Amino acid sequence: MGVVGLGAMGAGIAQLCVEAGVDTVGREISPELAERAGDRITHFLTRKVEKGQLEQEARDAAVSRLSLTTELADLGGCDLVIEAIVEELAPKQELFAELELLLSAGALIATNTSALSITEIAAGTSKPERIVGMHFFNPAPLMPLVEIIRAELSSDEAFETAYAFGEKLGKHPIRCYDTPGFVVNRVLIPLLNDCIRVLDEARVTVEDLDTGMKHGAGWPMGPCELVDLVGIDVHVHASDALYEKLREPRMAPPPRLVAMRNAGLLGRKSGRGFYTYD
Ligand code: CAA
Repeated sequence: MGVVGLGAMGAGIAQLCVEAGVDTVGREISPELAERAGDRITHFLTRKVEKGQLEQEARDAAVSRLSLTTELADLGGCDLVIEAIVEELAPKQELFAELELLLSAGALIATNTSALSITEIAAGTSKPERIVGMHFFNPAPLMPLVEIIRAELSSDEAFETAYAFGEKLGKHPIRCYDTPGFVVNRVLIPLLNDCIRVLDEARVTVEDLDTGMKHGAGWPMGPCELVDLVGIDVHVHASDALYEKLREPRMAPPPRLVAMRNAGLLGRKSGRGFYTYD
């Protein structure tokens, strides 16, 4: 299989695939980015060995199943390609058009988009029936869920093959249709936005809000920690996309998050968000 775009999500998906025994070609746009993704994947696989979660031989076999490239043509032999590039419609449509020319007629193309319409991504292709959504959650190797999303023209076969592949990766897949935010983000994004608004309304500190949601609502991490993990830019972008489609005020990104995004406070990836990271 192939993964296009090896940021946090794409690298996590590629890691899952090689751990599940699938030969995987990962594509990035520069050798440096490809190398960084490869280092990230081997780091987490090595950590699993150190923590006794994976045998050394299984780790070595997983690493050997991963090949990295900057050439899209190297994905030509794949049966399934998962796209995890930038969350913008035009580059995704362009990529899908290129993939169409490369892949065999029976190959499937899945997008990991969290905010865009899969039907729109598929619209520019000549075989939209082979396109589905496979939406993983951050961090992809650890979060058990994958949403399998059916676009308007996805075939039953593509939909069920993607579902079965989710199971092969050891995930709990759920089926849904292509609607804004699909299932989890439709609920989680406005909820996280409410959490951020309550910071100002209740004049609660970031730490106390996180403590409140962890110890009062049983969340594994607090909302501010979670938005830092997801990336403040990613969260604002997804909120904007949901608001544009649903027009519910709770979907709109809170001004505080927009200001943080504009200031470059993006969370863990930039070293600073609600919290500061090494
Ligand atoms: N592969 C393997 N291990 C990884 C990893 C990866 N890619 N990334 C992180 N880890 C490991 C780290 O190595 C770390 O272990 P060490 O410190 O020992 O190295 C470990 O994960 C994290 O350690 P924690 O003790 O913090 O782990 P935890 O047991 O508390 O669980 C968690 C971490 C699973 C992230 C948990 O806190 C959780 O479930 N948080 C909620 C996350 C969530 O809600 N995600 C959804 C975000 S929304 C989204 O993704 C949708 C979207 O479209 C934007």
